[in-house]
Amino acid sequence: MMSETYRIGLGNNNNSLREKANSDFVSFWDEQAKHLSWFSPWDKTLDWSPPFAKWFVGGTINASYNALDIHQSEKSTKSAILWEGENGESRNVTYGEMFTLVQKFANVLKSLGVQKDDRVTIYLPMVPELIVSMLACARIGAIHTVIFSGFSATSIKDRVSDSKSKIIITADGGYRRGKIVKLKDVIDDAIKDIDFVEHVVVLERTKNKITMNPKDNLWNDLMNNISELCSAEALPSDHPLYILYTSGTTGKPKGVLHGTGGYLTHLHSTFKWAFDIKDSDVFFCTADIGWVTGHSYVAYAPFLHGATQVMYEGAPDFPDASRMWDILQKYKVTIFYTTPTALRMFMKFGDEIPNSFDLSNLRLLGSVGEPINPEVWKWYFKTIGKEKCPIIDTWWQTETGGMLISPLPGLESIPLKPGSGTLPIPGVDISVVDEIGKDVPVNTKGYLVIKNPWPGMLLTLWNDDEKYKTVYWSKYENCYYPGDYARKDEDGYLWLLGRADDVLKVAGHRIGTAELESCIVSHPSVAESAVCGIPDEVKGEVIIAFVVLKQGVEQNSKILEKEIIDKIRNNIGSIATPKQIYFVSKLPKTRSGKIMRRLLKAIGNNEKIGDVSTLEDGAAVTEVQQVFDELKTSIKNNLE
Ligand code: WTA
Repeated sequence: MMSETYRIGLGNNNNSLREKANSDFVSFWDEQAKHLSWFSPWDKTLDWSPPFAKWFVGGTINASYNALDIHQSEKSTKSAILWEGENGESRNVTYGEMFTLVQKFANVLKSLGVQKDDRVTIYLPMVPELIVSMLACARIGAIHTVIFSGFSATSIKDRVSDSKSKIIITADGGYRRGKIVKLKDVIDDAIKDIDFVEHVVVLERTKNKITMNPKDNLWNDLMNNISELCSAEALPSDHPLYILYTSGTTGKPKGVLHGTGGYLTHLHSTFKWAFDIKDSDVFFCTADIGWVTGHSYVAYAPFLHGATQVMYEGAPDFPDASRMWDILQKYKVTIFYTTPTALRMFMKFGDEIPNSFDLSNLRLLGSVGEPINPEVWKWYFKTIGKEKCPIIDTWWQTETGGMLISPLPGLESIPLKPGSGTLPIPGVDISVVDEIGKDVPVNTKGYLVIKNPWPGMLLTLWNDDEKYKTVYWSKYENCYYPGDYARKDEDGYLWLLGRADDVLKVAGHRIGTAELESCIVSHPSVAESAVCGIPDEVKGEVIIAFVVLKQGVEQNSKILEKEIIDKIRNNIGSIATPKQIYFVSKLPKTRSGKIMRRLLKAIGNNEKIGDVSTLEDGAAVTEVQQVFDELKTSIKNNLE
């Protein structure tokens, strides 16, 4: 399978680093960790008692110190955040100002009784105060748990209850598509029955009317008359930095727990290797901080390098399709990191719009979150990068903390292939294997596995070591299983081929099928449900849901459909809304009762059933064929 290659590099070539990493990954990471500022050195680089890894054991460090304090002598007047509000407002926050804000807010947290190890839930729009809140938590050793501002009250309630956060930081609202998203109202609803929440801090972003409750305090009131000095706590390297909830194959989101020293080492290294970051760069990552990309490559990595970054509050196509390119031109962005979904949308708007902006400052482009189609890669390369910017297609996960597969133009110049993430980062051993863990032949689809620990890897799942073991480490012995399909080509390049488990990726966001199904089934009229993803031109994948109603309930009712959709919006958030709901009388299952998603997908795509004789678990061919035909007919009727 020959594929097109693009030779575009930045002239960096440091192959010796790869050689070093391959010969001894532990001493390799030991070297890399020395680029950070530690309060005290570590005695042991890696304590690996599978599947639990502790990096830089005995060392003490602080994330906020590495993000801010270390830059004060040389960069206090340098811009840290060039913020653009959706409504056209802008702010330039320097490293010096961030330093003061973070220290003050850390003192606010202390004054509210927050101590080391306490959890703090953050539900804010994309404003600088979101990063201030995170770094303030890190400064005093509190564990932040940021919730994406599109999640519903029920989702927040579940997460606050699981993490037992005593403090919540939110805003009156945030702008999205010209409208105000009333975040404070959602929080009021989410915590009305939770006694252990002691304080809610409310930032006034939109100045819309809110109800102030006894637990509420305004951000500005708390920040007045508070000391500007708060020294960073020396924390053990494996001190938890944050919990980030993510969807998996089970009904409940998992609290991915990240540490400090290892995580920061991973971010510091990958930010330098992948983005080739220089002091003069203007970096812009479009990810919302509510997702891991925003945690790692907005809130932390740029700060570790004292970089200047653009932060944008709103929708990428608001008020019109030129917004993104306008921001790139306005702030003279040099490095742009976005998602295939956003790129597919921009591409649909046509070349004329980006061509009418000056994008000549761009020197490097990145993609993350889903596989990037080769034609979109080429469009990005030609129309946006004008054939002079390398594209880094970065593969990683909430759990991995940082990139694990990506071209690294800051380190080496290798030919790029549109659609391939190329090679693993140095020090990480990745294979593509079959069901029993044997390497599959070149260019054969198999499961991606990671064979050794890496510094950014999750510590565990919050309060659930057992689940951590079973979800990631039980499919193959001593190998991390990320749940992705991949193939390796003749040059050893990795091609990511989507999820191998019951997790959907809609516009780059992870949605667990089980979580969605259990939400649908909680509707009193629903007996059973199955959801699956079907390809979508822009979002990569969209959700379709099959619903079997309880006996006696009137089928195919528009009211019922609306009720189910409302339930999903209220319980999870609108990102999980199905594009289509099909009311059916039966679901195709194996004899052991497992829903055959492959068949549902085929139905949704209007494909042929394919070879049923190879279906898993000995399902009866004729039975399956019958259900399949029945479903097709009922879907046709549904649509008519
Ligand atoms: C998918 C996002 C192909 C993959 C950082 C992974 C990708 C999941 C890529 C993690 C990529 C991420 N190419 N697929 N470059 N990057 N994925 O936790 O399926 O939101 O397992 O982290 O996104 O999603 P998560």
